[in-house]
Amino acid sequence: MAGKFFEVLKKDHDEQRELTKKFKKEKSSSEWKNLFQEIKKELQPHVKGEEASFFHRLKDSEDREIRLETLEKLQEHDVMEHLLEEAHNMDQTSEEFWAKVKVLLEINEHHIDEEEQETFIVMKKQFSDDELDSLLDKFNQEKEKVKKEIG
Ligand SMILES: [Fe+2]
Ligand SMILES: [Fe+2]
Repeated sequence: MAGKFFEVLKKDHDEQRELTKKFKKEKSSSEWKNLFQEIKKELQPHVKGEEASFFHRLKDSEDREIRLETLEKLQEHDVMEHLLEEAHNMDQTSEEFWAKVKVLLEINEHHIDEEEQETFIVMKKQFSDDELDSLLDKFNQEKEKVKKEIG
């Protein structure tokens, strides 16, 4: 069904926005760790799913503008992966931890807004409805695979 992929991505993004709001509001350092776990579980499979599906196709686009946009998004994914890893290895009750996760979430908020405002439009132009359906399958497969890997 046309448009399904966008609904699925938007739903994930809204979940990320919800967790971001919760984390930013949370004053109790004992809760940060749990929220971070939820954020990590939500973010990693989503990001890997995107990379294995539409970004994988767009990064080799003939169109320079599309390639540059895609590389920018992938670079943001890398930065977020790096921050997730660092935060994972920190004292998760420390203020430094809170600051790191907050920066990660702010990068992500900007990132998902741009995906919705820019990448979705590129995808609609570049892919047929059938292609979008098969890219959605790929996205879901990769997401499930990563979910299992990270437990
Ligand atoms: Fe993304
Ligand atoms: Fe996304």
